[in-house]
Amino acid sequence: MLELKNVSFRVDDGGGKVEILDDVSFTVENGRFLVITGPNGGGKSTLARLIMGIEQPTAGQIIYNGVDITSLSITERARLGIGYAFQHPPRFKGLTVRRLLSLAHGSELPEDECCSYLTRVGLCSMDYLNREVDGSLSGGEVKRIEIATLMARKLGLAIYDEPEAGIDLWSFSMLVQSFKMLTKDADESVVIISHQERIMQLADEIIVIADGKIRSRGPKDEILPTLLGEFDRKCDLRGEKEAADHA
Ligand SMILES: Nc1ncnc2c1ncn2[C@@H]1O[C@H](COP(=O)(O)OP(=O)(O)O)[C@@H](O)[C@H]1O
Ligand SMILES: [Mg+2]
Repeated sequence: MLELKNVSFRVDDGGGKVEILDDVSFTVENGRFLVITGPNGGGKSTLARLIMGIEQPTAGQIIYNGVDITSLSITERARLGIGYAFQHPPRFKGLTVRRLLSLAHGSELPEDECCSYLTRVGLCSMDYLNREVDGSLSGGEVKRIEIATLMARKLGLAIYDEPEAGIDLWSFSMLVQSFKMLTKDADESVVIISHQERIMQLADEIIVIADGKIRSRGPKDEILPTLLGEFDRKCDLRGEKEAADHA
């Protein structure tokens, strides 16, 4: 179980202290599927970085399976079974896709298993197995390879930051299917930061983060209709304004 207790993250931007995250608390039970959503700049990626240990909170605690991991390094957290797929993944020059998947898995992966992970993210596996994860791959390809890498790992907690970004519709459908498979895994908890309704549909729980605070949270069936309603209202208002502007 992952537990965030009163987590805050404050930075000094030169002109004074800025609260990026303010007193965020929530838990993710083992095997549960949490979707975090909310406007850009709200603090979602920062939250993911704090859980992974890329940044340290300025207040609060992060507990994982009963262990206080607040001051542990990224490596120590990875060893405990926490993994993170970046919103903008890094590239690994000199490393082939196949090697990267095997490294993630922790042992040499047979070709057919590598292929199956790549297929899950909508990549035609044979074209990619021996490619290097370098500048020759497009942003969407690197992103999907990173997602496959996280899926190949045996994790207790997997965090995906906007997996849909830069991914075409067909691959996205594959991805949604793959995430659906993850929901059936009773051991792995999944946190996905996403704006996509089809991903939110898979959630047990949805948390909305805006301006560094939890704005709302609850079971998917409660939160999703409200979110979609808000979106419709915004569009209606915009439509009315445009109509008025043209009148
Ligand atoms: N280390 C930092 N120093 C200064 N500002 C930061 C830092 N980390 C994040 N921010 C700012 O905090 C806000 C939230 O960022 P982020 O977590 O990436 O939002 P989201 O993922 O919800 O779009 C942004 O305005 C971003 O510029
Ligand atoms: Mg982000």
